[in-house]
Amino acid sequence: MKTSGGSDAAKRRAGESAAEVVDDGSVVGLGTGSTAAHAIRRLGDRVDAGLDVRGVATSFASRELAVDHGIPLVGLDEAVGPDGPGIDVAIDGADQVAAGDDSSALLKGGGAAHAREKLVDTAADRLLVVVDPSKETGVLDGAVPVEVLPDGRSVVAEAVRAAGGEPALRRAERKDGPVITDNGHVVLDCAFGPIPEPGSLAATLAGIPGVVEHGLFVGLADAVHVGTADGVCVREP
Ligand code: A5P
Repeated sequence: MKTSGGSDAAKRRAGESAAEVVDDGSVVGLGTGSTAAHAIRRLGDRVDAGLDVRGVATSFASRELAVDHGIPLVGLDEAVGPDGPGIDVAIDGADQVAAGDDSSALLKGGGAAHAREKLVDTAADRLLVVVDPSKETGVLDGAVPVEVLPDGRSVVAEAVRAAGGEPALRRAERKDGPVITDNGHVVLDCAFGPIPEPGSLAATLAGIPGVVEHGLFVGLADAVHVGTADGVCVREP
């Protein structure tokens, strides 16, 4: 699993705090990353203790963890189809949260799972974001992960440069060549510097042919659970 900076104890407090507010009978979107993994483990403990939930995985990794922890799963199509139960709540991590922004815009995709995460997080009635304090920032300024059709990478890279960004193909660490997502695509990490208007950049990126999904999540978070040194602070944008 990809790991990021920040204290694991703070991540655990955030993830467990969100897992604790899941109601019996819920369908739960299971985010990806080291913080969401704590929520999945805690949900698994609650399932052991009798909680009735079904999970919708956002990645190979979150599916594997849910299976390991005994969480029954339902597919995204089954959950949101005409006869499906819907998704009551999703719990997901983030690489950055714009704490100074009313929409609590998120930067995601450090684990290259943002395309499925965005599908599940958008479909959920509520999105609980789980982070440690190192993720909070006034203005998003990290490189934006952009999942791209492999044949479109040069076309997309040119369009990103034209929009003021500097794209870099994400390279695999223990394989020659690029990271390939769970969906068979590549990722361009696109540095734009500070992003004061994430909604505007999100629209620009979404409009580039060849882009499958980008890592800006605007207006989706219903609550942000921030694990701290000795507790959890829950912010509702
Ligand atoms: C996965 O692609 C990401 O969107 C993760 O949700 C994000 O990178 C947070 O991961 P950590 O909780 O490991 O920092």
